[in-house]
Amino acid sequence: MSANLLINVDHIATLRNARRAARPDPVEAAFRAEAAGADGIVVHLREDRRHITERDVRLLAQTVSGTFDLECSTDAEVVAVCADVAPALATLVPERREEVTTEGGLDVRAAPDRLASVADRLRDAGTDTVAFFVDPVPAQVEAAARVGADAVELHTGDFAEASASASQQDALARLSEAAAAAEAAGLRVHAGHGLDYRNVGPFFEAAGPCVAEVSIGFAVVARAAMVGFEQAVREMARLVKG
Ligand code: PXP
Repeated sequence: MSANLLINVDHIATLRNARRAARPDPVEAAFRAEAAGADGIVVHLREDRRHITERDVRLLAQTVSGTFDLECSTDAEVVAVCADVAPALATLVPERREEVTTEGGLDVRAAPDRLASVADRLRDAGTDTVAFFVDPVPAQVEAAARVGADAVELHTGDFAEASASASQQDALARLSEAAAAAEAAGLRVHAGHGLDYRNVGPFFEAAGPCVAEVSIGFAVVARAAMVGFEQAVREMARLVKG
């Protein structure tokens, strides 16, 4: 196994914003994550700006040296910021204001035209890779390929939340099948949501061979509060990169 590890620093911004303060700064966290072995940085510019702000996005676009992945919905204002900074990777995600975190993948079959036009606009602006965040369902993966995605990010939330080993095995089988469908459709395969220090090994054993990149945030930020940010990233990098 040797996938790229992208670290999501949204929750550094959550902590900063809890006191409407200047620190901790997600830009500093991104710098430290890359120094500790991350291959890139992810942030989600939410419509309500609850954690990452436009200032963060613009500074990160200039300072991240590996892959900069900007997660965004198809909201016109957010897409305009994304097109303006043209990150190397843009991941399109669904968004509901009242959710605590992204709850499910995009329903690509319900909004193919909107997704295709946003993907085209971002590529025209200079983004290399447009990924669609989808549930591990072959029909969604195939729809993403038809609509013109370059990559899919497979939602690992069901796997991460499965408590019984039987349901965990089912979730892994679904991820493995969806990853194979993505590879067969010529899409790059990313994965993320709820991956942590305990479940990332089993995930790679079962579904990993064609997964090029994982995006991990909460578990690393939570561990960073205990052992420091660089140490938390180094520990995760050892698990992801072997
Ligand atoms: N991928 C996507 C599309 C997400 O929305 C999130 C959560 O922000 C992640 C990955 C990372 O999830 P986690 O913070 O649980 O590691």
